[in-house]
Amino acid sequence: MKEISINLPSPVELLPDFCNSYQVYIKREELIHEDFGGNKWRKLKYNIDQYYTQGHQTMITYGGPFSNHIAATAAVCAQFGIPSVGLIRGTYKDPNNPTLTKAAELGMKLHHVPKDAYKLKAEAPLIQDILMSYDNPMLIPEGGNNQLGVEGMKDLMQEVLSYDLDFDVVGVAAGTGATGAGIIKYCHQGPIVKVVNVLKNVSLVDEIRKRLGDTAIEWEVLSQYHFGGYARSTDVLQAFAQQFYDKYKITLDPIYNAKLFYGMKDLMRTNALPEHSKVLIINTGGYQGIDAYEYVHKKPWVIKYS
Ligand SMILES: Cc1ncc(COP(=O)(O)O)c(C=O)c1O
Repeated sequence: MKEISINLPSPVELLPDFCNSYQVYIKREELIHEDFGGNKWRKLKYNIDQYYTQGHQTMITYGGPFSNHIAATAAVCAQFGIPSVGLIRGTYKDPNNPTLTKAAELGMKLHHVPKDAYKLKAEAPLIQDILMSYDNPMLIPEGGNNQLGVEGMKDLMQEVLSYDLDFDVVGVAAGTGATGAGIIKYCHQGPIVKVVNVLKNVSLVDEIRKRLGDTAIEWEVLSQYHFGGYARSTDVLQAFAQQFYDKYKITLDPIYNAKLFYGMKDLMRTNALPEHSKVLIINTGGYQGIDAYEYVHKKPWVIKYS
């Protein structure tokens, strides 16, 4: 595998005075890389390994028009010199969409697919035709949600364990649940894992269970912090992200991590976690989603006063 420049291990840092008596730390996965930091590198790494070991010639994946996964796959493939293809949900082509503009600039070939065909994925004849037009492609599911993506969390948790901080609780945001499943799988009987269901995914618990099989690790999905679901936000959430930035100079994206950190703080504020617990919250990045959010909502997400 070609050497590329990434910042690993990502740091674990204390967040002083986060809430009451809790000792709260952040795992700064967003610092791994500007364009594919966060859980994206973790999910893609073993997929890239497999691309090479199986001798594929193109990487193909799926995503919505503002997908973090599409953006990250385009960026990772550009770094490795891998030809990439994105199958995009919906036929509307917005020439100003920041996510797809950047993906195309990075060399990703985009196919806009009608929503009904997109739902069927490789079972749709239209998608089959697209897939067959490429030589020996490797197909990654939407969101990087495959077992190789889950396995990428092993490296993340090994870094966490190397700090010897003995966390009581780990918090992580979930869309498909692949990231959360990997965190639970590689926790090694240590902390309780709280998975915050930010997209209102009704089958999240089942999807995580399916990935995990039997496990002795304690975990729980929290479904009360979605703020309306995918890409939805409220003034309360935005104010929280602004206060967090003002205090720690760390940005939380609107889609995943603002909701995660808000939820974790709410558990602490209401004493739903044992007093004095040592808590690790994993910032999975998602910063390209801020550009998308600001483009759609026509207003800044967090204002960075100097
Ligand atoms: C920034 C960010 N955090 C968290 C997640 C949730 O990951 P998963 O779909 O594996 O639950 C995603 C989606 O991949 C994401 O883009």
